[in-house]
Amino acid sequence: MDTEPKFFETNPTAGVVGKPLNRVDGRDKVMGRAKYSAEFNNLPGLVHAVLKTSDVAKGRITGFDTTAALKQPGVLAIITHQNIPKLAKTPNDAEDKRAIGVHMGYLPLTDDQIYYAGQPVAVVVADTLERAQYAAALLKVQVAVEKPLASYEDPKARLFDPTKLQEGKTAPHVVRGSAQAAFAAAPIQLTHKYTHAINHHNPMEPGATTAHWEAPDRLTVYESTQGVTRTQKALSTMLGLSAEQVRVVTKFLGGGFGCKGSCWPHTVLTVQAAKFVGRPVKLALTRPQMFTSMGHREDQTQTLRLGATNDGKLTALIHEKTSTTSPWDNYAESNSKIVNMLYECPNFEASYQLARANVMTSTYTRAPGEAPGSFALESSMDDLAYQLGIDPIEIRLRNYAEKDPSSGQPWSSKSLKQCYARGAELFGWSKRNPKAGVTRNGRLLVGWGMATASYPVHNSQGMARARLYADGHAVVQSGATDLGTGTYTVMTQVAAEALGLPVEKVRFELGDTKLPTAPNSGGSVAAGTVSSSVYMAVQDLWQKLIKVAVLDKKSPLHRAKTADVEVKDGRLQLKDNPKKGEDFATLMKRADMADVEGNGQGRYGSGYEDAQTAANANPAKKDEAPHHSMHAFGAHFCEVQVDPDLGTVRVTRWVSVHGAGRILNAKTARSQIIGGSIFGIGAALMEATVRDQKLARYTNASLADYHIPVNADIPDMTVEFVEEHDPYINAMGVKGIGEISMVGVTAAVANAVFHATGKRVRELPITPDKIL
Ligand code: MOS
Repeated sequence: MDTEPKFFETNPTAGVVGKPLNRVDGRDKVMGRAKYSAEFNNLPGLVHAVLKTSDVAKGRITGFDTTAALKQPGVLAIITHQNIPKLAKTPNDAEDKRAIGVHMGYLPLTDDQIYYAGQPVAVVVADTLERAQYAAALLKVQVAVEKPLASYEDPKARLFDPTKLQEGKTAPHVVRGSAQAAFAAAPIQLTHKYTHAINHHNPMEPGATTAHWEAPDRLTVYESTQGVTRTQKALSTMLGLSAEQVRVVTKFLGGGFGCKGSCWPHTVLTVQAAKFVGRPVKLALTRPQMFTSMGHREDQTQTLRLGATNDGKLTALIHEKTSTTSPWDNYAESNSKIVNMLYECPNFEASYQLARANVMTSTYTRAPGEAPGSFALESSMDDLAYQLGIDPIEIRLRNYAEKDPSSGQPWSSKSLKQCYARGAELFGWSKRNPKAGVTRNGRLLVGWGMATASYPVHNSQGMARARLYADGHAVVQSGATDLGTGTYTVMTQVAAEALGLPVEKVRFELGDTKLPTAPNSGGSVAAGTVSSSVYMAVQDLWQKLIKVAVLDKKSPLHRAKTADVEVKDGRLQLKDNPKKGEDFATLMKRADMADVEGNGQGRYGSGYEDAQTAANANPAKKDEAPHHSMHAFGAHFCEVQVDPDLGTVRVTRWVSVHGAGRILNAKTARSQIIGGSIFGIGAALMEATVRDQKLARYTNASLADYHIPVNADIPDMTVEFVEEHDPYINAMGVKGIGEISMVGVTAAVANAVFHATGKRVRELPITPDKIL
């Protein structure tokens, strides 16, 4: 065992970075001082917008009866496709869609067509929310109703291969080796079909927009988004404004899970409504509207064919996916990517099929592709283990990929073996009875299952600015967003450590397009990219001070070579004679510098050239970085207890161990893994949005009817991280954990259910009817 469970106490490189610091924004949140995007209520003349949405999934609007609605007091406008001002560009045009950079290729209120249930057909604006709601209820929409298509399962649905199209190439057909021939020749052949229900993200905070035109050509939008820059680009392009004319602010988010990763129709409609009435307008989606306004994880079927030798070595993996898409977009999560890279396997093939239906576009949902893809692969690996009588961990070790099979590249780092070993130890895996359906706790069946997790470090870059004041405080900024997972906190830690200041002396600001540009908080890139940019900004600031010091006759460092000077805990000193030096405050006061500012870029696969003192950066490895495959890895272990009479499944124990590079905060990181695992347990056991196959409408669009885990559904969870120093990924060596926390979770649960019951459920969620 070469892991170190007490990483945070023993890690010699950890200063305040890595420590379980409490959330710096926690107090503001519980005191109600944290302002979310629907809480900017002091804007002059603020009024309220409500979406009127379509009850039918397909048809054509033939008219509106606005008489009763317009008579109501306080009603300012009823905006429909008939009177809405034209935009410079809309995503309805495929080329414009790319320029706008949105996910959804149709903007409601641009014509009389109805493509999906829940589609906005009018925006009603009034002086109070209640008046807007009432007027929207009175508004009558006349529709020539047509028969909708609900999903790929409809016999009338026409399947097509999205890779044959020019646009929207999200899910390429991949061939490596000769998978068909290898599968045909394999002594062990498994062919299984896996289905995944529609899942909705359901962040606690719904989508919300407050739009304020401060001048005819100057707009500020308070928006519930995972990316202010992406929203700024989308809005400015649609409105025909330049980027600097549109400011987007997102100070706090109540979760996102991917649904706030793009700019959706309600945002631009709110901006247009504000223009229309000439006053600031606020719109917050209702919970039912959240099911039709910001995407979802698509309904999908995967067929995985797995060929193996008699001793359990994979020889072929063939993955096919079919899912439902909207009338205009070709999005499918790329499930096959993880199937292609997780295990050593010489032959691989993947293909995708889509069917258009009267639904809105699906979108990234936590671990898009990796989560459902790992359900298929990790369930089939479990099948293989049982079929051959090999332990589930052992079967994975026999297929351990020493390099990335999908690219042939070496890993930048990989601690998966340690994750298996430590997870097994914490869980007590060695005590598991290899036979399924025989372990009992009284009348309950007990099952133990495990699965591998992995998520890539995506290509990303972003900027940060750090300003250090001579009095010993600092303001550090990056236009990132904090989904609620801890960006404010971990960036404060990174800045404090790099500056040698106590965390209380550092203020980290984010969530504003006025700040240096950061990437979307999505794809698990924020922690690595933003922390690296913060780190680099501080290095830039030190370089400026070092130059001042060596030119200053009164400095102990006068005439030293800048390259010979280092900064440790805020003290500038000679590398080979640390006694010779001075702290930044002394230098700055003598030089009459009130403050000094640095800018830095955090980049995927780099940072080494400049970040010479970065704990995880190695300048010599800079050129090698792009030639490495960069992934985090982990393992989940699950115990379930199944009631054999009722078919209910309860998760009773949980262990997750991950190797994800440097961990910035032990507490928020643990919370991320717990949160992602619960998200996955929800997908495994209860989450499903039901779309009526005749009407193409959701039947359970509320949190009363769409079941998510509550505290009583979740046991205490054990989370650990393997100490891992990755010299390639970025200046801070951070891989990110937002998505990997959920990868493999559904399979770990399903595998535990199999071990408990001897019944393999390949249809998510695993509801009691599927167990009995
Ligand atoms: Mo994440 S699904 O990339 O917000």
